[in-house]
Amino acid sequence: MKIGICCDHAGVEYKNKLISYLLGKGHEMVNFGTDSTESCDYPDFAHPLANAVESGEVDCGIAICGTGNGMAITLNHHKGVRAGLAWNVEVAKLVKQHNNANVLVVPARFASYNMVNAMVRAWMSEEFAGGRHQRRIDKITNY
Ligand code: RB5
Repeated sequence: MKIGICCDHAGVEYKNKLISYLLGKGHEMVNFGTDSTESCDYPDFAHPLANAVESGEVDCGIAICGTGNGMAITLNHHKGVRAGLAWNVEVAKLVKQHNNANVLVVPARFASYNMVNAMVRAWMSEEFAGGRHQRRIDKITNY
């Protein structure tokens, strides 16, 4: 899979570890930054990832900031993005099964790297359940 990834200063360490891990699993990674631990603004990195998901440049994305909320809120401004914030493995599974999230968002300051790695694996290995969940997804942008 071709996976886009981005973070702010809070998520650089986890992003770099995830890139190494996922490259090792044979995935292609597109890094949208930041690559610095200097304080920065998460929308500057979330929007380029969202554009790549919307255009099909990448198959899916992973975004990391301190709480995950800044990334999720920004990413979800894009109609072609469903960014789901996860904080444990069960939520990471459900965000694919029920919400078909095409971007997984994780909180660098509130989850260990091992938990983040486990959430990424869980989200990537689950399938969207469809059915009533598709009906609900269809209503998200229909208002
Ligand atoms: C950065 O201090 C922090 O605000 C950011 O990483 C994120 O948690 C925002 O939602």
